[in-house]
Amino acid sequence: MKTITNKEKYRVLEKSDLQSLKDMNEEIKKSKFRQKFHIQPITGLLNDPNGFCFFHDEWHIFYQWFPFGATHGAKNWYHMTSDDLVSWKNKGLALKPDTVFDNRGVYSGSAIVYDDKLNLIYTGNHKDERDVRHPYQCVAVLEDNGKFVKKDEPIINMSQNYTEHQRDPKIMYEDNKYYIILGAQDKDLKGRALIYVSDDIYNNWKLLGELKVKGYEDFGYMWECPDLIKIEDKYVLIFSPQGLQANGYKYNNIYQNGYLMGEMNFDTLEFIPESEFEELDGGFDFYASQSANQNVYENTAVLMAWMGLPDSSYTTDDENWSGCLTLPRELSIKNGKLIQKPARNLKIIRDDVITSHISKNYLQKIKTPLEIKLEDINSKNLEINIFSDKNNSSNSGFKISFDNKKCEFTIDRGSLLNKINTNQGFTRTIKLDMLDKLDIFIDNSSIEIFINDGEYTMTSRVFPTDEECMLYIKAEDNIKLEMCRLKELMNEEFVI
Ligand code: FRU
Repeated sequence: MKTITNKEKYRVLEKSDLQSLKDMNEEIKKSKFRQKFHIQPITGLLNDPNGFCFFHDEWHIFYQWFPFGATHGAKNWYHMTSDDLVSWKNKGLALKPDTVFDNRGVYSGSAIVYDDKLNLIYTGNHKDERDVRHPYQCVAVLEDNGKFVKKDEPIINMSQNYTEHQRDPKIMYEDNKYYIILGAQDKDLKGRALIYVSDDIYNNWKLLGELKVKGYEDFGYMWECPDLIKIEDKYVLIFSPQGLQANGYKYNNIYQNGYLMGEMNFDTLEFIPESEFEELDGGFDFYASQSANQNVYENTAVLMAWMGLPDSSYTTDDENWSGCLTLPRELSIKNGKLIQKPARNLKIIRDDVITSHISKNYLQKIKTPLEIKLEDINSKNLEINIFSDKNNSSNSGFKISFDNKKCEFTIDRGSLLNKINTNQGFTRTIKLDMLDKLDIFIDNSSIEIFINDGEYTMTSRVFPTDEECMLYIKAEDNIKLEMCRLKELMNEEFVI
């Protein structure tokens, strides 16, 4: 990732920047790594999904955006909408860091429909002349003229009982009250979530206290992007803790994103976990997820995440863009575990079926975007090489394997020619009780694997070269294989 001066880093987008950003976007559009069915930035860097919600018959999502290059600077919110969660329209800049409260970035947050208006609740990342941070929680309203208007004053000031790390408000409505769950760090440098309450989203927010999560008092130094949702009759606490030590199969990414499931008591602020912290995804690139739970789909929620991580670099950084969002996932609960399936509407993107047969071996040149479904695996040994080289198809590309003796499912991106984040390791492994089905979505620079109908997922960025264009599958026994071409739904319209 490029280093830039503070002046460039904290620049506010002005009308006079439009032409240079348009030129940058023209160059970026030529990249072979541009995604065909994932949300990606028009220029610069995308990180967290923000403000994910359903309002006036449309899905809305925003992304954290630094427009001027593939680096983390003063963030903006870029707005996108969709009728179906699958094809998205670029709507343009929603919030930029142009007030004293957010002079170093309009940081992450969420959305709520209030008074029939879309409201964005976000962190104003303020720093003073001595570079001391002072975060504010703020609101902006989508007015009838289509403009987002920030309220003059923040709704929540920094609490003096915690460090400067207080951010990422997720607002929710519960028993006729509004609650905000906020990521924080206490003075002993432990990750925390704070709970605020109010009857009215614009006024009188009161800090109720810390969320008390038994057994998780010492679990990383910061909890980013907390999210508390109800699915069926359980509460799910999702957050992105920083500072966990890698431990066997667990916590191998630089930072984690996972969940606890249990009971929530809003009077005592106790969250009682009924199982251990589980990572949402076992792949290389998954962070800062956010759910939307607007009763569109009964009893469930939809979740999207940043397909990337902080403090990491990607091949397209040199092309002045970086990051994309994951596919939307529909959440449900089965046997006390969170299930994440590709959102039901994703079937819209299926085009023609290229291959459908039952066999043990397969070798074929592939063209993205593509979906590969494997069924009846019957926990037999399996090897898959995606984006492999035709001269060495069984030992190159992005390798997926299942070892039925060890019950290990492994992905390995170390044989791809474009290597990224080499200091973070090339393999990730999860333990499975059995392997029956795989549903793999391949875009021009990503691979998302849904295992056993959403029991596990593994998500990774990959940057294959032109020579890396084969698919090789070797199974111990016959398996059912179906391959589908996917529609190229992402429009590349330049809108600011
Ligand atoms: C998570 C995060 C948030 C913050 C935002 C800034 O990736 O660090 O905590 O609000 O990104 O872009």
